[in-house]
Amino acid sequence: MDMNHFTNHLRQGKTPAFSLGAKTLKFAQDLDRQDELAEFRDQFNLPTRASLKQKSPKPQPASNGVNGHHHTNGDHPQSSGDGDGDDARSIYFVGNSLGAQPKLVREHLDAHLNTWANIGVNGHFTALDDSPLVSWQDMAEDCARKSVDIVGASSTSEVIIMNTLTANLHLLMASFYRPNQQRHKIILEWRPFPSDWYAIQTQIQWHGLDPSTSMVEIQPSPSLYLSTQTILSTIDAHADSTALLLLPGIQYYTGQLFDIPLITCYARERGIVVGWDLAHAAGNVELQLHDWDVDFAVWCTYKYLNAGPGAIAGAFVHERHGTVAPNPDGEGGFSYRHRLAGWYGCDKKVRFNMDKDFQPTPGAAGFQLSNPSVVDLASLSAALEVFGKAGMKRLRSKGLVLTAYLEWLLEGILDEDGKEDEDFRIITPRNPMERGSQLSLLLRPGLLEKVRRMLVENGVVCDARKPDVIRVAPVPMYCRFEDAWRFVQILRSALRET
Ligand SMILES: Cc1ncc(COP(=O)(O)O)c(C=O)c1O
Repeated sequence: MDMNHFTNHLRQGKTPAFSLGAKTLKFAQDLDRQDELAEFRDQFNLPTRASLKQKSPKPQPASNGVNGHHHTNGDHPQSSGDGDGDDARSIYFVGNSLGAQPKLVREHLDAHLNTWANIGVNGHFTALDDSPLVSWQDMAEDCARKSVDIVGASSTSEVIIMNTLTANLHLLMASFYRPNQQRHKIILEWRPFPSDWYAIQTQIQWHGLDPSTSMVEIQPSPSLYLSTQTILSTIDAHADSTALLLLPGIQYYTGQLFDIPLITCYARERGIVVGWDLAHAAGNVELQLHDWDVDFAVWCTYKYLNAGPGAIAGAFVHERHGTVAPNPDGEGGFSYRHRLAGWYGCDKKVRFNMDKDFQPTPGAAGFQLSNPSVVDLASLSAALEVFGKAGMKRLRSKGLVLTAYLEWLLEGILDEDGKEDEDFRIITPRNPMERGSQLSLLLRPGLLEKVRRMLVENGVVCDARKPDVIRVAPVPMYCRFEDAWRFVQILRSALRET
């Protein structure tokens, strides 16, 4: 069994044929032994089955050492005795909602607190010699630099780390959604994340327009699949009256990954500005935002990027929108893309002159408003450092195989049942290149609560969406093939007992 063989197959959109032996725990453990990224699991604090039930937290060591930390309280509840010795850890399949904590975060936060304690305000422009952090004022740029490969920007100047996802969506819509009498519509999908819906709706209203005539929702097939053809024909149907197309790179509910390059190109050729919400795509699938000519994109960093709950977010602005040029009339001032401005968008050369002429930093950084939170940036810089070592390409390769293996094991449950009325249906696309590391299972009505409870009781952390969906994310950074195998045994028993 060769992992690379599987990866190549999957990258061509083909589902690999696992042999019957793949049903065994040994097979899963063999895959784990081949996993180039296996070492990263120990760089994360994964909740244990015991710690999930604790009311008061046990302190977690800061170091990057291996194993051990998860057994500090000596508990091995429900340990099966086999596996690689870390059975006490939960099956953490919820990195699509909140990524696990990299141990390095604590080190970076400590470094920041040391700088602040020792040199106070001077930390703005000075980094201590032994610190893993750059000076506070350079930290946003440092995190942007570490994000370039993750989103496929051409350079740091196309990325800015600031605010939160929804705030960035509003800020960038303020610049990129400029409706006029003819082009006033925003095309979105049938079930956007509620925050995106509210942002779009209120932007339209804020321009004095009516959401019922300016919002266009693309409808999926009955299986909840949104085909590229459906998206393109909706664009065609509204091409002359649409100002903005705003879609998620990956749909949060079904886990469907859209054809970002094709859709972007198609819409832009029709004069439509294109923005993407990459909350579920950043750090999950490979992205090439610059080459795909995307106008703008936003993402959060607390899911696949593991920077912590509510951590500071990212935004991409294509370089063609970031130019700042002196006004040609020779009377001073600059011409640049309209935006809602704040002093941190001002070029560093003049930012602290405290005068009234706004001269934006060229590129995405010119869209900043405020002095960013260093606590946030310290956490993100640690998470991105770990991420950079693992590398997006390797993560995606493992994610493809891990998700396909989980899917194959899940299909095994359905085959065994052979019932007409199946207990669940996978609503995530079967084509591996049309999804990331998430499978959404639509359960038979009435099963969700019981199944969720049994998963929790058996140390599985995943996400339940009422009324009937559980979302399972075997993220490649810290999840194992063995986790996929164990999850399926637990789910099978849960379904049998309901
Ligand atoms: C697709 C999507 N968009 C927007 C948001 C909102 O993010 P934030 O609360 O960081 O603004 C989320 C949060 O999970 C999301 O999944």
